[in-house]
Amino acid sequence: MISFTFPKSSPSTPLPQHQHRGPIRLGSPVSSAGRKRRIMSMQCNRLTAFLLLGFGITLFLTHTIVQQTTGQSSIEHISKLSKFLPSKTVNRWADLYVAEADFPETTYMTGVAGFNYFHNLYFANGTFLIVTSEPSSLPSYGINGILSGLQDPTDKWHNHWAAEEDRIMIVSPQEAKERMLLGKAAIRKSGVSMMFADIREGGQSSFLNHYYHFIGEMFLGLWRVVTAAGEIELPSRLIYKADSPDWRDHAGITTWFQQAVLPEAEIEEATIYEDRRKSGVTFLFDKIAIADRWAAHRAGQEVKYWNKANADLPSLPVPLTWMDPLRDQIKRLALAEGCDMKRKNPKVPIVLYINRQLTSRRLLDEDAEELIEEMEKLADEGVIEFYNEFMEKLPRVEQFCLAMKSDVMFAVHGNGLSHQLWMKPESAVMEIMPVTGFARDYAILGEMMNHEYYAIHYNETFPVEKWRKENGYGVDQGPDFHSPRITVDGKFMAGMVRKLVSTRINVVEPALPWK
Ligand SMILES: *[C@@H]1O[C@H](CO)[C@@H](O)[C@H](O)[C@H]1NC(C)=O
Ligand SMILES: *[C@@H]1O[C@H](CO)[C@@H](O)[C@H](O)[C@H]1NC(C)=O
Repeated sequence: MISFTFPKSSPSTPLPQHQHRGPIRLGSPVSSAGRKRRIMSMQCNRLTAFLLLGFGITLFLTHTIVQQTTGQSSIEHISKLSKFLPSKTVNRWADLYVAEADFPETTYMTGVAGFNYFHNLYFANGTFLIVTSEPSSLPSYGINGILSGLQDPTDKWHNHWAAEEDRIMIVSPQEAKERMLLGKAAIRKSGVSMMFADIREGGQSSFLNHYYHFIGEMFLGLWRVVTAAGEIELPSRLIYKADSPDWRDHAGITTWFQQAVLPEAEIEEATIYEDRRKSGVTFLFDKIAIADRWAAHRAGQEVKYWNKANADLPSLPVPLTWMDPLRDQIKRLALAEGCDMKRKNPKVPIVLYINRQLTSRRLLDEDAEELIEEMEKLADEGVIEFYNEFMEKLPRVEQFCLAMKSDVMFAVHGNGLSHQLWMKPESAVMEIMPVTGFARDYAILGEMMNHEYYAIHYNETFPVEKWRKENGYGVDQGPDFHSPRITVDGKFMAGMVRKLVSTRINVVEPALPWK
């Protein structure tokens, strides 16, 4: 039989024999110079102790005064800071298995239809269980706005209905016990989980295999609900109820984002979901945010007017800094790769034109030329630092580096405008569209980011008041939306840029919270 023995102490290398290991004895022989030094150092020690004591008292007093005068303690401030630390620093092994007697109730944190955030959500036999003795604490849309069921393959209208008990249910602790839904113990999944309930059904794709639909809708929505709950913690796992070909985008930006920006997050596909379902074990998700596109469409408010799953998200209030943890990750990576985020001249703002002329949705050639000429004039004049970029030709980190340092970004409607997510909040974004149409995708991102956003129709801005028809629904994209005949007036754009940079001359890149 093989037996293993473990060293009693930690398996660090023992000290070499010649090193002194006993207590340091003060009576060892020293020269008189050495003694003087020691006396001086003892005096120094007393001085240090005295200063430390003084410092401690001052800290205590100022803390008390701060508390009395502003009603806000510095302790509270410190506890706010600790929110930035990943929850992995707590001992996740200590409370991995939770006995039935200790089962906590589910808490609904916050959300909008299609994007909902819970603490202590259970998962057993393929079903999520909201265990609560207060169902009124849940949003009024109920399951309808949380999760969808499978499509009926015989339904030619491809309706998506709310999920039934084979996927999610709301139960009281009593009922869960009586129906033996939860078993005797649960396995805790700690940290923030994000679940993307989009799945391919029949011939229809889940939409997730397009970077914008992942980053600008599903992921951003879940990040929004977590930060709206006052929590700032990068996700520990991303759960797909979709198979691999259905959620990976062909350009590989989604997977790049996951691997580079969220390197600590586990990526779980439908297979893992199945494994958990079949395991016969109950799981307790500490913190889980669930995105479901069709739930947003069924139960959303603004969603139905715009046909955009994320249209209700801007209404969820978040701090201006809500994107910082993600942006800081990209920034650290970009800096490590040698990205220079500084302006060439500290008083000259950076303007980025995402050039899409190599694709089929583009500007008329002559308008495209004039646009660049006008921008180059501004650059020659020393008003802007100008970048005219075919993003698709740049290494990925360089694209993000450019976006992060830009004060103003503009482009024809397209995926490139997703890069506005990495600009500093309150930057400026202009989206060029054919004069006959409008789509709100990137305007929603702009609003969520608190950017100054403009839709551009040739030589004018297309103002918010005109975005809706009389019946409340968003105006149509129009016939030329995806055409190569989009027009823009370069001189008008130069005037806009001049105005937008004038208020951003003194903007500086914020420092990283820690290195
Ligand atoms: C597990 O789920 C299946 C399918 O929803 C259901 O038929 C079965 O009764 C469930 N088993 C238990 C123990 O709840
Ligand atoms: C904008 O362009 C249209 C069409 O060319 C023109 O009729 C109009 O006068 C222009 N407006 C301004 C303010 O230049």
